[in-house]
Amino acid sequence: MESLHLTATDKKGRYEELLPQVEALVSTETDLIANLANVSAALKEAFGWWWVGFYLVRDEQGQSPRLVLGPFQGPLACTSIAYGRGVCGTAWMQAKTQVVPDVEAFPGHIACSSASKSEIVVPLFVGNTVIGVLDADSEFLATFDAIDAEYLEKLVAVICKFIK
Ligand code: SME
Repeated sequence: MESLHLTATDKKGRYEELLPQVEALVSTETDLIANLANVSAALKEAFGWWWVGFYLVRDEQGQSPRLVLGPFQGPLACTSIAYGRGVCGTAWMQAKTQVVPDVEAFPGHIACSSASKSEIVVPLFVGNTVIGVLDADSEFLATFDAIDAEYLEKLVAVICKFIK
């Protein structure tokens, strides 16, 4: 599936179908890991991206706070990302979605896979605190745009609404 070739209307349509499915999934299960695992699978199924999944903020005593790999779909990935590092660490630090049309042009991008050409990272909030990020990677340039940012922000808001 070539996510690059979706029209804006098709893309919106897929997200509109997905949002109620995600709400149904996460409203009936309280375990965050189980929910993130199913949402990763639903996104992979809907869009066929190269890699999609979650990193969760871990702040353990005696260690610097970091993002640790959570549920995902796709090839092996880096397990630990420091605050402010790469696209994920930047989304965490700035508490702001990062849309990266060409990963090579992003200073400090962490290349988990050389196949990845473009990326979007969306922070997950509980209150004002970033508790993790959703990361999606594509093997095509410029796969992600403002539509993805808008809908993935809605999607993670649905997940976060049900975090206990
Ligand atoms: N490219 C990300 C690292 C995570 S992987 O893409 C799965 C980054 O720069 O933060």
